[in-house]
Amino acid sequence: MSSPDMPSVCTVELGQRTYPIYIEREVLSRLGSLCREAGLAGRALLVSDHTVAGHYGAAAAAALQAAGYAVATVTVPPGETSKSHEQLLAVYDAALAGGLDRAAFIVALGGGVVGDLAGYAAATYLRGVAYVQAPTSLLAMVDSSVGGKTGVNLPQGKNLIGSFHQPALVLADTATLQTLSTREFCSGLAEVVKYGVIADPEILDRLEGTTPEALQQDDRGLAGLIRRSCEIKADVVRQDEREGGLRAVLNFGHTLGHAIEQVGGYGACLHGEAIAIGMVFAARLSERLKDFPADETERLIRVLRGLQLPVDRPDLPWSALMAAMQRDKKKKAGTVGFVLAEKPGTVAIGCPVSDDVLEAVWNGMPPAPTA
Ligand SMILES: NC(=O)c1ccc[n+]([C@@H]2O[C@H](COP(=O)([O-])OP(=O)(O)OC[C@H]3O[C@@H](n4cnc5c(N)ncnc54)[C@H](O)[C@@H]3O)[C@@H](O)[C@H]2O)c1
Ligand SMILES: [Zn+2]
Repeated sequence: MSSPDMPSVCTVELGQRTYPIYIEREVLSRLGSLCREAGLAGRALLVSDHTVAGHYGAAAAAALQAAGYAVATVTVPPGETSKSHEQLLAVYDAALAGGLDRAAFIVALGGGVVGDLAGYAAATYLRGVAYVQAPTSLLAMVDSSVGGKTGVNLPQGKNLIGSFHQPALVLADTATLQTLSTREFCSGLAEVVKYGVIADPEILDRLEGTTPEALQQDDRGLAGLIRRSCEIKADVVRQDEREGGLRAVLNFGHTLGHAIEQVGGYGACLHGEAIAIGMVFAARLSERLKDFPADETERLIRVLRGLQLPVDRPDLPWSALMAAMQRDKKKKAGTVGFVLAEKPGTVAIGCPVSDDVLEAVWNGMPPAPTA
């Protein structure tokens, strides 16, 4: 795996839409100068949520102003409910009030919610302006800020409205993770574990035996893990920018994970917590259908437990989970099937699994202890 001493920039290679990802402590102080380097001109609209803006909004605005940008700001309430048309209108309003024209750009400062909302606003405002991702949650740093998927929710469901719109620049300031709650931090680590399973088992070696508290303090180690995660995601996105096929590897653990989120009620468990359980489930399926070694599933469980993530079967009705997985499949015509692991670091997509096997593996998982 890359050493944390290597230059902390990686690149998403997408021809004319190629962009750099900076992963560095305090890189937010260079926000303005890096925007200049990226060729961004015009006015800036800084979009954040109230919590993140309280910590880092002033510093980000000052960094932009120091580089000569006129800055307007808008903040939305924290949480998934802000990925709404109401908050999208608030962003458009602020863009208009701030005099943003086609040459202007938007900066998304926050977690995945702000990134998806501000990114979608950038994709659509005046038929599209440039934007910068400044992720402040671990999930946003290793997943949502890279790859150009943007969008908002409808009352009928999550991410039903959206667009592919690649950022001009991604800036992950690892110092911001100090204020992220441990629970959110651990949830983000679940995606890092996922990259270990789908592409690079060395990530699992790095995570085994460590604690979230130790990691949260270990800036260099963390930067190395974030960088490796971004490299893996960037490589997948480079090969399949618009989710035609390969990008499905990123969904390891997500088929059941999404169902758990839906059936359990959004908010009852965090995304990373749901996919931790989903990954154990997918690994057990892989044992049956792909000869994935059982001791690798045991290691996955050890790593997840060590990161304070759940691994047991939650008390949710199987019929409801099955129905949710069927709905998920219908929405994603073309990528039906499970992502299964063949060996650590290698997965297969679109694997058919019979309902009987799904249910048997679910029932074979130990039930979570009731609180
Ligand atoms: N576009 C994509 O490719 C993609 C991929 C994965 C997830 N997502 C989306 O990302 C969203 C989830 O992102 P998330 O987990 O970052 O949630 P989030 O944006 O709601 O952030 C989680 C919480 O942490 C707080 N927070 C963020 N950074 C902080 C910091 N540095 N210090 C203190 N508090 C901080 C936020 O205010 C929020 O309360 C979902 O809407 C999901 O659909 C998108
Ligand atoms: Zn995910």
